[in-house]
Amino acid sequence: MNSLFKQLIVSFLGTLFVILTLVACQSQQTTDISPTLSPTSPATPNAQTQATPTPTSRIITRPVAYVDRSLSTNPAQLAPLPYAYAALERAIDADTMKLHHDQHHAAYVNNLNNALEKYPQLQNSSVEALLQDLSSVPQDIRTAVRNNGGGHLNHTIFWQIMSPEGAGQPTAEIAQEINQTFGSFDTFKQQFNEAATSRFGSGWVWLVRDRQGQLQIVSTQNQDNPISEGLYPIMGNDVWEHAYYLKYQNRRAEYLNDWWSVVNWTEVNRRSQASR
Ligand SMILES: [Fe+2]
Repeated sequence: MNSLFKQLIVSFLGTLFVILTLVACQSQQTTDISPTLSPTSPATPNAQTQATPTPTSRIITRPVAYVDRSLSTNPAQLAPLPYAYAALERAIDADTMKLHHDQHHAAYVNNLNNALEKYPQLQNSSVEALLQDLSSVPQDIRTAVRNNGGGHLNHTIFWQIMSPEGAGQPTAEIAQEINQTFGSFDTFKQQFNEAATSRFGSGWVWLVRDRQGQLQIVSTQNQDNPISEGLYPIMGNDVWEHAYYLKYQNRRAEYLNDWWSVVNWTEVNRRSQASR
């Protein structure tokens, strides 16, 4: 009798062990699944405003593409130029503007939409949110999102910070802050142009606000945007050859000098205020 009882106990404990092992494995499988998109990635401007980043967070909580809204991926769309193709001719010719906006920028938008087709859940996120947390973008489309999402965001900012009413000298608050930070506008312009000239290959040069609230000049390669490094892009110039080659050929420095005559300092001031 005792022997039968012992066998029953051993059998019961064995079964219990197997059940507990299976439950533990199931639990482990569930926690190993990586999220497709970080839950901290904001999806809307309102969400961005309400987000509370940690001190080490790279998430910028202010709108970046426009001062009042982020850039949709549902689907990404090419906005029309805010002026005529020939409006900036004292610096950039009409043919370059048309090719640049209608072909190059349009291609970034189309390629971004094609990349996101496979992951419809990502279309609830903004372009900025994807670029701020690229490690959470599925690996098979990460480079496409980085290049084409960046291209879309960069050019959206670029068209806005130029204007036919632009002027060579900064105005209002940004003029004062540039003087305080760089000593003078001439020094700032010289450093900005040097950063653009020394950018090997294709890329951008930016005036950004860093996490400490200070102005900085940085350059990025290809279509990278400073928000991926936690910096807020206030203004930027495109130093890809497609931005100037028809008129300037290999004379990048000449393009860089002429470009200041079409900078929209009103918009730069708006972006600077939004970046605070
Ligand atoms: Fe471009």
